[in-house]
Amino acid sequence: MSEVDLTIDSVGVRGDGVAQHDGKPVYVPFTAPGDRVRVRLSPDKDERRGEVVEILAAGERAKPVCRHFGTCGGCALQHLTDETYAAAKLGWLQGALAQHGFKDIEIAPLRRLASGTRRRARLALARDGEAVAGFHGRMSHAIVDMRECHVLHPALVALVAPLRRLAAEILPRRGKASAALTLGDGGVDVLLELSKAPALDGLEALARFAAEQDIARMSWRAGSTVAPVAQRRPVRAIFAGVAVDLPLDAFVQASAEADAVLSGLVLDAIGAPRRIADLYAGVGTFSFALAARAPVHAVEGDAEAAKALGQAASRANVADRVSVERRDLARRPLSADELARFDAIVFDPPRVGALAQSRMLAGSTVPRVVAVSCNPATFARDARILVDGGYTLAHVAPVDSFVWSPHLELVARFERR
Ligand SMILES: C[S@@+](CC[C@H](N)C(=O)[O-])C[C@H]1O[C@@H](n2cnc3c(N)ncnc32)[C@H](O)[C@@H]1O
Repeated sequence: MSEVDLTIDSVGVRGDGVAQHDGKPVYVPFTAPGDRVRVRLSPDKDERRGEVVEILAAGERAKPVCRHFGTCGGCALQHLTDETYAAAKLGWLQGALAQHGFKDIEIAPLRRLASGTRRRARLALARDGEAVAGFHGRMSHAIVDMRECHVLHPALVALVAPLRRLAAEILPRRGKASAALTLGDGGVDVLLELSKAPALDGLEALARFAAEQDIARMSWRAGSTVAPVAQRRPVRAIFAGVAVDLPLDAFVQASAEADAVLSGLVLDAIGAPRRIADLYAGVGTFSFALAARAPVHAVEGDAEAAKALGQAASRANVADRVSVERRDLARRPLSADELARFDAIVFDPPRVGALAQSRMLAGSTVPRVVAVSCNPATFARDARILVDGGYTLAHVAPVDSFVWSPHLELVARFERR
Protein backbone atom coordinates (compact mmCIF):
# COMPACT_ATOMS: atom_id res chain seq x y z
CA MET A 1 0.00 0.00 0.00
CA SER A 2 1.54 3.28 -1.06
CA GLU A 3 1.71 6.45 0.97
CA VAL A 4 1.50 9.91 -0.55
CA ASP A 5 1.38 13.49 0.73
CA LEU A 6 -1.78 15.28 -0.42
CA THR A 7 -3.52 18.61 0.07
CA ILE A 8 -7.27 18.43 0.64
CA ASP A 9 -9.09 20.90 -1.57
CA SER A 10 -12.80 20.24 -1.03
CA VAL A 11 -15.41 18.16 0.82
CA GLY A 12 -17.16 15.34 -1.06
CA VAL A 13 -20.88 14.63 -0.80
CA ARG A 14 -20.38 11.99 1.89
CA GLY A 15 -18.35 14.39 3.98
CA ASP A 16 -14.89 13.05 3.09
CA GLY A 17 -12.10 15.45 2.21
CA VAL A 18 -11.08 15.30 -1.46
CA ALA A 19 -7.57 15.69 -2.86
CA GLN A 20 -6.27 15.31 -6.40
CA HIS A 21 -3.67 12.64 -7.10
CA ASP A 22 -2.49 11.62 -10.58
CA GLY A 23 -5.31 13.75 -12.00
CA LYS A 24 -8.01 11.88 -10.10
CA PRO A 25 -9.88 12.54 -6.84
CA VAL A 26 -8.91 10.64 -3.68
CA TYR A 27 -11.45 10.60 -0.84
CA VAL A 28 -9.96 10.89 2.64
CA PRO A 29 -12.38 10.65 5.59
CA PHE A 30 -12.23 13.25 8.37
CA THR A 31 -10.00 15.69 6.56
CA ALA A 32 -10.70 19.36 5.94
CA PRO A 33 -9.90 21.68 3.05
CA GLY A 34 -6.39 23.05 3.45
CA ASP A 35 -5.16 19.97 5.36
CA ARG A 36 -1.77 18.70 4.25
CA VAL A 37 -1.90 14.97 5.00
CA ARG A 38 0.16 11.85 4.56
CA VAL A 39 -2.28 9.29 3.24
CA ARG A 40 -2.18 5.53 2.80
CA LEU A 41 -3.91 4.83 -0.49
CA SER A 42 -6.44 2.03 -0.68
CA PRO A 43 -5.06 -0.97 -2.61
CA ASP A 44 -8.27 -1.01 -4.64
CA LYS A 45 -7.35 1.12 -7.66
CA ASP A 46 -10.95 1.91 -8.56
CA GLU A 47 -11.95 3.01 -5.11
CA ARG A 48 -9.55 5.93 -4.74
CA ARG A 49 -9.81 6.12 -0.98
CA GLY A 50 -7.13 7.11 1.45
CA GLU A 51 -6.57 6.83 5.16
CA VAL A 52 -4.77 9.52 7.11
CA VAL A 53 -1.40 8.38 8.43
CA GLU A 54 -0.38 11.82 9.66
CA ILE A 55 -1.69 15.36 9.50
CA LEU A 56 1.33 17.34 8.29
CA ALA A 57 -0.40 20.73 8.50
CA ALA A 58 -3.95 21.44 9.65
CA GLY A 59 -6.32 23.32 7.36
CA GLU A 60 -9.82 24.62 8.06
CA ARG A 61 -10.45 22.38 11.06
CA ALA A 62 -12.53 22.74 14.19
CA LYS A 63 -12.62 20.57 17.30
CA PRO A 64 -15.52 18.08 17.03
CA VAL A 65 -18.11 18.55 19.78
CA CYS A 66 -18.77 14.84 20.32
CA ARG A 67 -16.47 12.14 21.66
CA HIS A 68 -17.97 9.66 19.18
CA PHE A 69 -17.19 11.75 16.13
CA GLY A 70 -15.11 9.68 13.73
CA THR A 71 -16.53 6.33 14.75
CA CYS A 72 -20.29 7.03 14.93
CA GLY A 73 -22.08 7.04 11.58
CA GLY A 74 -24.48 9.79 12.69
CA CYS A 75 -22.23 12.75 11.88
CA ALA A 76 -19.69 13.32 9.12
CA LEU A 77 -18.83 17.01 9.39
CA GLN A 78 -18.08 18.10 12.95
CA HIS A 79 -14.41 18.63 12.13
CA LEU A 80 -14.87 21.67 9.87
CA THR A 81 -14.83 25.36 10.73
CA ASP A 82 -18.23 26.97 10.56
CA GLU A 83 -17.54 28.74 7.27
CA THR A 84 -16.05 25.68 5.61
CA TYR A 85 -19.00 23.60 6.78
CA ALA A 86 -21.55 25.95 5.19
CA ALA A 87 -19.43 26.26 2.04
CA ALA A 88 -19.21 22.45 1.75
CA LYS A 89 -22.98 22.02 1.88
CA LEU A 90 -23.52 24.83 -0.64
CA GLY A 91 -20.81 23.31 -2.82
CA TRP A 92 -22.68 19.98 -2.97
CA LEU A 93 -25.83 21.75 -4.11
CA GLN A 94 -23.94 23.75 -6.73
CA GLY A 95 -22.22 20.55 -7.89
CA ALA A 96 -25.51 18.63 -8.20
CA LEU A 97 -27.09 21.52 -10.14
CA ALA A 98 -24.05 21.87 -12.42
CA GLN A 99 -24.28 18.16 -13.31
CA HIS A 100 -27.64 18.94 -14.88
CA GLY A 101 -26.49 22.07 -16.63
CA PHE A 102 -27.61 24.69 -14.08
CA LYS A 103 -24.84 27.25 -13.80
CA ASP A 104 -26.19 30.64 -12.69
CA ILE A 105 -29.02 29.76 -10.36
CA GLU A 106 -29.80 32.11 -7.50
CA ILE A 107 -29.01 30.13 -4.33
CA ALA A 108 -29.85 31.66 -0.95
CA PRO A 109 -27.32 31.39 1.90
CA LEU A 110 -27.52 28.11 3.84
CA ARG A 111 -30.15 28.41 6.57
CA ARG A 112 -28.57 27.03 9.72
CA LEU A 113 -30.72 25.17 12.24
CA ALA A 114 -29.87 24.38 15.84
CA SER A 115 -28.20 21.11 16.84
CA GLY A 116 -29.75 19.03 19.64
CA THR A 117 -33.24 19.24 18.13
CA ARG A 118 -33.60 16.11 15.95
CA ARG A 119 -36.88 14.46 16.87
CA ARG A 120 -36.59 11.16 14.99
CA ALA A 121 -33.95 8.49 15.37
CA ARG A 122 -33.53 4.79 14.79
CA LEU A 123 -31.19 3.43 17.42
CA ALA A 124 -29.59 0.01 17.07
CA LEU A 125 -29.60 -2.25 20.13
CA ALA A 126 -27.56 -5.40 20.65
CA ARG A 127 -26.40 -7.73 23.34
CA ASP A 128 -23.13 -9.53 22.97
CA GLY A 129 -21.77 -9.67 26.47
CA GLU A 130 -22.56 -6.05 27.39
CA ALA A 131 -25.68 -4.49 25.88
CA VAL A 132 -25.13 -1.53 23.56
CA ALA A 133 -27.41 1.19 22.17
CA GLY A 134 -26.53 3.79 19.54
CA PHE A 135 -26.07 4.48 15.86
CA HIS A 136 -24.13 2.19 13.56
CA GLY A 137 -20.53 3.11 12.90
CA ARG A 138 -19.52 4.84 9.74
CA MET A 139 -19.75 2.34 6.86
CA SER A 140 -19.95 -0.42 9.43
CA HIS A 141 -22.45 -2.77 11.06
CA ALA A 142 -20.85 -2.27 14.46
CA ILE A 143 -22.93 -0.26 16.92
CA VAL A 144 -21.24 2.71 18.55
CA ASP A 145 -22.43 2.62 22.16
CA MET A 146 -23.82 6.14 22.56
CA ARG A 147 -22.73 8.03 25.68
CA GLU A 148 -23.57 11.47 24.32
CA CYS A 149 -25.24 12.91 21.23
CA HIS A 150 -25.38 16.55 20.19
CA VAL A 151 -27.72 16.02 17.28
CA LEU A 152 -30.73 14.42 18.95
CA HIS A 153 -33.26 16.25 21.09
CA PRO A 154 -32.42 15.80 24.80
CA ALA A 155 -35.72 13.90 25.29
CA LEU A 156 -34.37 11.20 22.94
CA VAL A 157 -30.83 11.25 24.35
CA ALA A 158 -32.34 10.64 27.79
CA LEU A 159 -33.75 7.32 26.54
CA VAL A 160 -30.45 5.86 25.33
CA ALA A 161 -29.27 4.52 28.70
CA PRO A 162 -32.71 3.09 29.61
CA LEU A 163 -32.88 1.43 26.16
CA ARG A 164 -29.47 -0.11 26.77
CA ARG A 165 -30.73 -1.55 30.05
CA LEU A 166 -33.88 -2.78 28.29
CA ALA A 167 -31.74 -4.49 25.63
CA ALA A 168 -29.78 -6.23 28.40
CA GLU A 169 -33.04 -7.46 29.86
CA ILE A 170 -34.95 -8.62 26.79
CA LEU A 171 -32.41 -9.59 24.14
CA PRO A 172 -30.91 -13.07 23.96
CA ARG A 173 -27.12 -13.40 23.70
CA ARG A 174 -26.05 -12.04 20.30
CA GLY A 175 -29.56 -10.67 19.90
CA LYS A 176 -30.21 -7.50 17.93
CA ALA A 177 -33.09 -5.03 17.77
CA SER A 178 -33.72 -1.42 16.91
CA ALA A 179 -35.80 1.35 18.43
CA ALA A 180 -37.52 3.91 16.21
CA LEU A 181 -38.02 7.02 18.34
CA THR A 182 -40.21 9.97 17.43
CA LEU A 183 -40.71 12.95 19.68
CA GLY A 184 -44.29 14.13 19.25
CA ASP A 185 -46.28 16.80 20.97
CA GLY A 186 -47.38 14.45 23.77
CA GLY A 187 -43.97 12.86 24.35
CA VAL A 188 -41.89 10.10 22.79
CA ASP A 189 -43.23 7.34 20.57
CA VAL A 190 -41.12 4.16 20.76
CA LEU A 191 -41.41 1.36 18.21
CA LEU A 192 -39.14 -1.57 19.02
CA GLU A 193 -38.21 -3.74 16.04
CA LEU A 194 -37.53 -7.25 17.28
CA SER A 195 -36.52 -10.46 15.47
CA LYS A 196 -39.38 -12.34 17.13
CA ALA A 197 -42.40 -11.62 19.30
CA PRO A 198 -41.45 -11.09 22.96
CA ALA A 199 -42.45 -13.71 25.55
CA LEU A 200 -44.49 -12.73 28.61
CA ASP A 201 -41.52 -11.58 30.70
CA GLY A 202 -40.32 -9.52 27.72
CA LEU A 203 -43.73 -7.88 27.42
CA GLU A 204 -43.66 -7.08 31.12
CA ALA A 205 -40.23 -5.49 30.71
CA LEU A 206 -41.52 -3.35 27.84
CA ALA A 207 -44.55 -2.21 29.85
CA ARG A 208 -42.29 -1.36 32.80
CA PHE A 209 -39.98 0.61 30.52
CA ALA A 210 -42.93 2.58 29.11
CA ALA A 211 -44.20 3.44 32.60
CA GLU A 212 -40.80 4.30 34.10
CA GLN A 213 -39.76 6.47 31.16
CA ASP A 214 -43.20 8.05 30.78
CA ILE A 215 -43.32 7.01 27.10
CA ALA A 216 -46.35 8.46 25.28
CA ARG A 217 -46.82 5.33 23.15
CA MET A 218 -44.85 2.13 23.02
CA SER A 219 -45.22 -0.73 20.52
CA TRP A 220 -43.17 -3.58 19.13
CA ARG A 221 -42.93 -5.02 15.63
CA ALA A 222 -41.62 -8.44 14.61
CA GLY A 223 -41.93 -9.24 10.90
CA SER A 224 -45.45 -8.25 9.89
CA THR A 225 -46.83 -8.33 13.45
CA VAL A 226 -47.21 -4.99 15.20
CA ALA A 227 -48.58 -4.79 18.71
CA PRO A 228 -49.13 -1.98 21.21
CA VAL A 229 -47.56 -2.16 24.66
CA ALA A 230 -48.78 1.10 26.18
CA GLN A 231 -50.52 4.27 25.07
CA ARG A 232 -50.33 6.87 27.80
CA ARG A 233 -50.97 9.99 25.70
CA PRO A 234 -51.72 10.72 22.02
CA VAL A 235 -48.64 11.17 19.83
CA ARG A 236 -49.29 14.25 17.79
CA ALA A 237 -47.61 16.83 15.62
CA ILE A 238 -49.07 20.32 15.35
CA PHE A 239 -49.00 21.94 11.91
CA ALA A 240 -50.31 25.51 11.63
CA GLY A 241 -52.38 24.91 14.76
CA VAL A 242 -53.85 21.60 13.52
CA ALA A 243 -53.05 18.50 15.62
CA VAL A 244 -52.33 15.35 13.60
CA ASP A 245 -52.24 11.93 15.31
CA LEU A 246 -48.98 10.43 14.10
CA PRO A 247 -49.13 6.87 12.77
CA LEU A 248 -46.41 4.48 13.95
CA ASP A 249 -43.00 5.42 12.55
CA ALA A 250 -44.56 8.24 10.50
CA PHE A 251 -42.45 10.61 8.45
CA VAL A 252 -42.02 14.02 10.05
CA GLN A 253 -39.36 16.60 9.22
CA ALA A 254 -36.14 16.43 11.25
CA SER A 255 -37.17 18.92 13.93
CA ALA A 256 -39.96 21.29 14.88
CA GLU A 257 -37.70 24.13 13.74
CA ALA A 258 -37.26 22.45 10.34
CA ASP A 259 -41.08 22.30 10.03
CA ALA A 260 -41.33 26.01 10.69
CA VAL A 261 -38.46 27.05 8.40
CA LEU A 262 -39.52 24.80 5.50
CA SER A 263 -43.20 25.78 5.79
CA GLY A 264 -42.17 29.46 5.83
CA LEU A 265 -40.09 29.00 2.67
CA VAL A 266 -42.89 27.08 0.94
CA LEU A 267 -45.38 29.85 1.80
CA ASP A 268 -42.94 32.53 0.60
CA ALA A 269 -42.52 30.69 -2.70
CA ILE A 270 -46.15 29.79 -3.37
CA GLY A 271 -47.44 33.31 -4.12
CA ALA A 272 -51.21 33.87 -4.06
CA PRO A 273 -52.74 30.87 -5.84
CA ARG A 274 -56.42 29.93 -6.02
CA ARG A 275 -56.00 26.16 -5.68
CA ILE A 276 -52.96 24.19 -4.53
CA ALA A 277 -51.93 20.54 -4.81
CA ASP A 278 -49.55 19.31 -2.07
CA LEU A 279 -47.94 16.17 -3.51
CA TYR A 280 -46.13 13.69 -1.23
CA ALA A 281 -47.99 15.44 1.58
CA GLY A 282 -47.06 13.03 4.40
CA VAL A 283 -49.15 13.82 7.47
CA GLY A 284 -49.72 17.39 6.31
CA THR A 285 -46.63 19.37 7.34
CA PHE A 286 -47.29 21.89 4.54
CA SER A 287 -50.96 21.17 3.76
CA PHE A 288 -52.41 22.95 6.79
CA ALA A 289 -50.10 25.95 6.47
CA LEU A 290 -50.93 26.21 2.76
CA ALA A 291 -54.67 25.93 3.45
CA ALA A 292 -54.57 29.41 4.98
CA ARG A 293 -53.72 30.69 1.46
CA ALA A 294 -56.04 28.57 -0.70
CA PRO A 295 -57.83 25.21 -0.74
CA VAL A 296 -55.34 22.34 -0.83
CA HIS A 297 -55.58 18.88 -2.37
CA ALA A 298 -53.09 16.70 -0.45
CA VAL A 299 -51.82 13.54 -2.18
CA GLU A 300 -49.88 10.91 -0.25
CA GLY A 301 -48.95 7.31 -0.99
CA ASP A 302 -48.82 5.91 2.53
CA ALA A 303 -52.29 4.76 3.67
CA GLU A 304 -51.76 5.52 7.37
CA ALA A 305 -50.32 8.98 6.72
CA ALA A 306 -53.15 9.89 4.32
CA LYS A 307 -55.72 8.66 6.85
CA ALA A 308 -54.15 10.67 9.69
CA LEU A 309 -54.09 13.78 7.51
CA GLY A 310 -57.76 13.37 6.54
CA GLN A 311 -58.87 12.74 10.12
CA ALA A 312 -56.96 15.79 11.36
CA ALA A 313 -58.56 17.97 8.68
CA SER A 314 -62.05 16.78 9.73
CA ARG A 315 -61.37 17.20 13.44
CA ALA A 316 -60.09 20.73 12.87
CA ASN A 317 -63.10 21.57 10.69
CA VAL A 318 -60.92 22.36 7.68
CA ALA A 319 -61.99 19.42 5.49
CA ASP A 320 -63.52 21.94 3.08
CA ARG A 321 -60.02 23.49 2.70
CA VAL A 322 -57.93 20.29 2.74
CA SER A 323 -59.00 17.29 0.64
CA VAL A 324 -56.92 14.11 0.79
CA GLU A 325 -56.15 11.44 -1.80
CA ARG A 326 -54.12 8.31 -1.28
CA ARG A 327 -52.19 7.66 -4.45
CA ASP A 328 -48.89 6.21 -5.61
CA LEU A 329 -47.35 9.10 -7.50
CA ALA A 330 -44.53 6.99 -8.96
CA ARG A 331 -46.98 4.66 -10.69
CA ARG A 332 -49.85 7.09 -11.16
CA PRO A 333 -48.59 10.67 -11.17
CA LEU A 334 -51.15 13.46 -11.56
CA SER A 335 -51.65 13.86 -15.32
CA ALA A 336 -51.40 17.19 -17.15
CA ASP A 337 -55.23 17.33 -17.20
CA GLU A 338 -55.47 16.72 -13.47
CA LEU A 339 -52.71 19.26 -12.81
CA ALA A 340 -54.65 21.88 -14.80
CA ARG A 341 -57.11 22.14 -11.87
CA PHE A 342 -54.39 23.82 -9.81
CA ASP A 343 -52.41 27.01 -10.22
CA ALA A 344 -49.70 26.02 -7.73
CA ILE A 345 -48.08 22.67 -6.94
CA VAL A 346 -45.90 21.75 -3.96
CA PHE A 347 -44.01 18.47 -4.20
CA ASP A 348 -41.79 16.94 -1.54
CA PRO A 349 -40.77 13.43 -2.63
CA PRO A 350 -38.57 10.91 -0.81
CA ARG A 351 -34.84 10.72 -1.62
CA VAL A 352 -35.44 8.94 -4.95
CA GLY A 353 -37.14 12.09 -6.22
CA ALA A 354 -40.26 12.46 -8.35
CA LEU A 355 -39.28 11.32 -11.82
CA ALA A 356 -42.72 10.31 -13.13
CA GLN A 357 -44.48 13.30 -11.56
CA SER A 358 -41.83 15.72 -12.88
CA ARG A 359 -42.42 14.42 -16.41
CA MET A 360 -46.13 15.14 -16.04
CA LEU A 361 -45.44 18.58 -14.58
CA ALA A 362 -43.15 19.33 -17.53
CA GLY A 363 -46.12 18.84 -19.85
CA SER A 364 -48.55 20.83 -17.67
CA THR A 365 -49.68 24.45 -17.68
CA VAL A 366 -49.38 25.04 -13.90
CA PRO A 367 -47.82 28.50 -13.51
CA ARG A 368 -45.91 27.85 -10.26
CA VAL A 369 -44.27 24.79 -8.76
CA VAL A 370 -42.49 24.64 -5.40
CA ALA A 371 -40.16 21.69 -4.82
CA VAL A 372 -38.97 20.55 -1.41
CA SER A 373 -36.18 18.00 -1.50
CA CYS A 374 -33.83 16.13 0.83
CA ASN A 375 -31.57 15.05 -2.02
CA PRO A 376 -29.86 17.64 -4.24
CA ALA A 377 -28.94 14.96 -6.82
CA THR A 378 -32.50 13.81 -7.57
CA PHE A 379 -33.76 17.38 -7.17
CA ALA A 380 -31.37 18.57 -9.91
CA ARG A 381 -32.44 15.70 -12.18
CA ASP A 382 -36.13 16.55 -11.69
CA ALA A 383 -35.44 20.29 -12.06
CA ARG A 384 -33.85 19.61 -15.46
CA ILE A 385 -37.04 17.83 -16.56
CA LEU A 386 -39.18 20.80 -15.45
CA VAL A 387 -36.90 23.37 -17.09
CA ASP A 388 -36.76 21.40 -20.35
CA GLY A 389 -40.57 21.46 -20.17
CA GLY A 390 -40.66 25.27 -20.08
CA TYR A 391 -40.18 26.21 -16.42
CA THR A 392 -37.58 28.59 -15.06
CA LEU A 393 -35.78 27.59 -11.87
CA ALA A 394 -36.19 30.95 -10.14
CA HIS A 395 -34.77 30.39 -6.67
CA VAL A 396 -33.23 27.69 -4.44
CA ALA A 397 -33.07 27.95 -0.64
CA PRO A 398 -30.90 25.32 1.10
CA VAL A 399 -31.76 24.39 4.70
CA ASP A 400 -29.42 22.57 7.08
CA SER A 401 -32.09 20.37 8.68
CA PHE A 402 -29.59 17.57 9.35
CA VAL A 403 -26.81 19.32 11.20
CA TRP A 404 -23.32 17.74 10.77
CA SER A 405 -24.67 15.02 8.47
CA PRO A 406 -23.99 14.73 4.75
CA HIS A 407 -27.65 15.60 4.06
CA LEU A 408 -29.17 18.80 2.81
CA GLU A 409 -32.76 19.93 2.51
CA LEU A 410 -33.93 22.61 0.07
CA VAL A 411 -36.94 24.53 -1.18
CA ALA A 412 -37.02 25.71 -4.80
CA ARG A 413 -39.40 27.80 -6.87
CA PHE A 414 -40.18 27.16 -10.54
CA GLU A 415 -42.22 29.47 -12.74
CA ARG A 416 -43.61 28.84 -16.18
CA ARG A 417 -42.01 31.05 -18.78
C1 LIG B 1 -40.00 13.58 2.30
S1 LIG B 1 -41.55 12.98 2.83
C2 LIG B 1 -42.47 14.49 2.83
C3 LIG B 1 -43.74 14.48 3.61
C4 LIG B 1 -44.34 15.86 3.92
N1 LIG B 1 -44.36 16.73 2.78
C5 LIG B 1 -43.61 16.50 5.07
O1 LIG B 1 -42.95 17.53 4.89
O2 LIG B 1 -43.69 15.97 6.19
C6 LIG B 1 -42.09 12.11 1.42
C7 LIG B 1 -43.48 11.56 1.52
O3 LIG B 1 -43.76 10.91 0.26
C8 LIG B 1 -44.47 9.71 0.50
N2 LIG B 1 -44.24 8.85 -0.66
C9 LIG B 1 -43.15 8.09 -0.91
N3 LIG B 1 -43.29 7.49 -2.12
C10 LIG B 1 -44.48 7.89 -2.61
C11 LIG B 1 -45.19 7.60 -3.81
N4 LIG B 1 -44.68 6.78 -4.74
N5 LIG B 1 -46.38 8.18 -4.02
C12 LIG B 1 -46.91 9.02 -3.09
N6 LIG B 1 -46.28 9.31 -1.94
C13 LIG B 1 -45.10 8.76 -1.69
C14 LIG B 1 -43.93 9.20 1.81
O4 LIG B 1 -44.88 8.33 2.44
C15 LIG B 1 -43.71 10.51 2.58
O5 LIG B 1 -44.85 10.85 3.33
